[in-house]
Amino acid sequence: MAEIYPSLISGDLMNLRAEIEALDPHCDGYHIDVMDYHFVPNLTWGPQFIDQIANTTHKPLWVHLMVDDPTNWTKKLVLPPHSTIGIHIESEGEVRRNLQRIKERHFNAALVLNPKTSVEAIFPYLDLVDAVLLMSVEPGFSGQEFLPSVAEKIKPLVGYQQEGEIKFKIGMDGGINLQNIAELKEKGIDWFAVGSSIFTQPNRVKALKDLLKLIS
Ligand code: DX5
Ligand code: ZN
Repeated sequence: MAEIYPSLISGDLMNLRAEIEALDPHCDGYHIDVMDYHFVPNLTWGPQFIDQIANTTHKPLWVHLMVDDPTNWTKKLVLPPHSTIGIHIESEGEVRRNLQRIKERHFNAALVLNPKTSVEAIFPYLDLVDAVLLMSVEPGFSGQEFLPSVAEKIKPLVGYQQEGEIKFKIGMDGGINLQNIAELKEKGIDWFAVGSSIFTQPNRVKALKDLLKLIS
């Protein structure tokens, strides 16, 4: 069953509690974008703010680290059970060690790929990941248009899923909407981060349910 995690940076930031309370009965978890103004040209939340979000919901969080070196984040972030920490393959620090540490801390480990990074780059790490996250926009901002060429990366990953004993989810983040979500699910995406398609709508719950209907 494919899942949708609303991406909270697109929400009404002064009313995040209300956003979460409205979506909570209907969503599978929340996508939290961490940006350091260096790895990407934008800045978002630190650990204390993420703690506050974690205290507002019982749903798992999927923290997407867009930072130069995620090492300290993988050591210190405290998240609800079944949460995921995703690090970029393009970031600094030891990818393998960071993924191992996330798993040692009993979180799910995700490896994130920028649109221009080839999918083969991820193959040496697949034994360690619970999820691969394909960026379908350049990371940094919500509200960008979906890059259709990224969908070509799904097939080799699905092939890998089918032939091996290794189990991992395939997620997609950026520009997901009512027009593309069903086709992406069909191709093999089982985990979606969705920002503006939910939070630009006056009725967030209806927007989420409309998307969920297309993938259930
Ligand atoms: C972009 C972020 C995304 C973003 C998604 O760097 O990683 O999670 O919030 O927003 P939409 O769905 O509007 O592209
Ligand atoms: Zn994200």
